[in-house]
Amino acid sequence: MTVDSMTYPVGKGRSDAFLDWLQMLSGAALIIFVLAHMTLVSSVVVSPEIMNAIAEKYEHLYLAQIGGPVLFMLFLFHFYVAARKIPFRREGQKIIWSHAKMLRHRDTWLWIVQVVTAMLILVMGSIHMWAVLSDLPVTAAKSAARIQSGPWLFFYIALCPLVVLHVVAGLYRIAVKWGVVRDTKRTGLRKFSMGLAIAMICISVVTLIRFMTLAV
Ligand code: HEM
Repeated sequence: MTVDSMTYPVGKGRSDAFLDWLQMLSGAALIIFVLAHMTLVSSVVVSPEIMNAIAEKYEHLYLAQIGGPVLFMLFLFHFYVAARKIPFRREGQKIIWSHAKMLRHRDTWLWIVQVVTAMLILVMGSIHMWAVLSDLPVTAAKSAARIQSGPWLFFYIALCPLVVLHVVAGLYRIAVKWGVVRDTKRTGLRKFSMGLAIAMICISVVTLIRFMTLAV
């Protein structure tokens, strides 16, 4: 039994299991999106022309105009199904906090990290998608101008680690919860998660530095 289910018993039975599936599947789809997004945006490091060509193709296939709002709906849906286990009231938060301190269990803390990062990503991810999708087409020069304009750099410096933490913790929890990785292999999974987090942070930092140094 996990600390969230101990504290916040949710409806038992098939419907809850079904919602758990939807939570996992929507989360896995978003993880794939974030990894693909990070790789595509980082193409600016190789060359701004490559990033422009990818963005052009993306918009030509309506992946930004239609795919963007669809992704936003998926983003909201994932939060909606996951939110049924989040303690929004003060008393619930106090119980979770005291259980986490009492259990001293790494995976319970990881759940708290996921909840806190989820709230911030919900707000910041929405702002980011609105800023980019309401100013199409995407070009390396426009992205560089935005990031060089001041507040956006700090916005991304905050958003990147939040996304990395949420994605890596989510991947780890999916692997453990759904039995993809057995207990005996958890150390290997932890090492893999740490490696992925470091790789994602490095790619984000290099991408942001490239945007900062691009002539606009
Ligand atoms: C269709 C939806 C999306 C599009 C078209 C898009 C596009 C972009 C673009 C063009 C940039 C470069 C900076 C800029 O222009 O301001 C960027 C950066 C970034 N985006 Fe997105 N984005 C989308 C969704 C998301 C989502 C859902 C997240 C995560 C919550 C996210 C996280 C980030 C982060 C952290 C950066 C900073 C640079 C990096 O780490 O690669 N984006 N995005």
